[in-house]
Amino acid sequence: MSFNVNKLNILYETPVEYLSSISKELGIDFYLKRDDLTPLGAGGNKLRKLEYLVQDAIDQGATALITVGGGQTNHGRQTAAMAAKYGLKCSIIAIDEYPGELSANMLLDRLFGCDLYLKKSDGRPGSVQMDELIEKVTKNYEAQGEKVYFIPMGGSNVLGALGYYDCALELDRQAKEMGLEGARVIDTVGSMGTFAGLFCGLKDIRSSLHLTGIAILPFNEKGVKNLEQYINDVKDTYGMDFNFDPYEVDLETGYVRGGYNLPSKEVREAVKLMASKEGILMDPCYTGKAFAGIIDMVKEGKIKKGEKVIFIHTGGMPGLYTYSHRIEFEKELMDGVHIL
Ligand SMILES: Cc1ncc(COP(=O)(O)O)c(C=O)c1O
Repeated sequence: MSFNVNKLNILYETPVEYLSSISKELGIDFYLKRDDLTPLGAGGNKLRKLEYLVQDAIDQGATALITVGGGQTNHGRQTAAMAAKYGLKCSIIAIDEYPGELSANMLLDRLFGCDLYLKKSDGRPGSVQMDELIEKVTKNYEAQGEKVYFIPMGGSNVLGALGYYDCALELDRQAKEMGLEGARVIDTVGSMGTFAGLFCGLKDIRSSLHLTGIAILPFNEKGVKNLEQYINDVKDTYGMDFNFDPYEVDLETGYVRGGYNLPSKEVREAVKLMASKEGILMDPCYTGKAFAGIIDMVKEGKIKKGEKVIFIHTGGMPGLYTYSHRIEFEKELMDGVHIL
């Protein structure tokens, strides 16, 4: 299905791989859709959204991008890489503390030439402070004659979601080619654009694939309603041809492990399992947390033995170098470091 919306074409497609050791370990048929291998700025899911969003920015004559997120935002890093490629200025605004070192995604942002604005929360409800900062940075750019295009958190608006609508069609075709009809697709849910796009795409083409999202930050009832509204907005904006029943939204909210980006032993164990069995890196904030959720879902019988699962690896690997995670990994891994 095509919606007459322009996009940059950077990505052809990402592979789906069967992971034999993890399959054996978990007693399921485990496949990975390698969206961590998208070709720009160290990879990850945001490229698909940014193909639409940055095209829109260019079409509107923008010369500078502003986006928001946590200090270690993967979305910000990929936005910074896109800005570099298309000759746009770029700033990331984060209500976050400077961690005391320029590492992980923040280091990469600066390599791409992106400015970082970090402001420690003053305890007031978030959006007010963020709005003020966005206005300030926008005015700075405008005073220099730049035209600003604002990209919301995670690139998650109706336009950005089309990137994962496209991914749903790509995955459905790959699943058919690989004999994976009826498989369960699992993705990590943060700002929700990936899930909303996948959901709409799979529904719109009557795919046999079933989508389950694993939330990596707390989702209360209002959060779930927001996700439903988001799906409705994407569907209505582009006139998609399916009936949306909120009961079909399959979101696991019980594997958050304390909150957004908090270090967790179970998540580190999941990251180590994937790395040591398959040589594939996941991250402690998103994909490692969702993978830890998958391991629990198998243990709890929510994912049945022998079930076919396709997990979308949405990237995030630089997050392993985030100070708060790195020091915890170090404690657990130093036993194999032999200083002679
Ligand atoms: C590595 C990674 N995986 C998954 C997600 C979640 O995607 P979404 O924000 O579209 O829900 C993000 C979001 O930033 C991410 O960086």
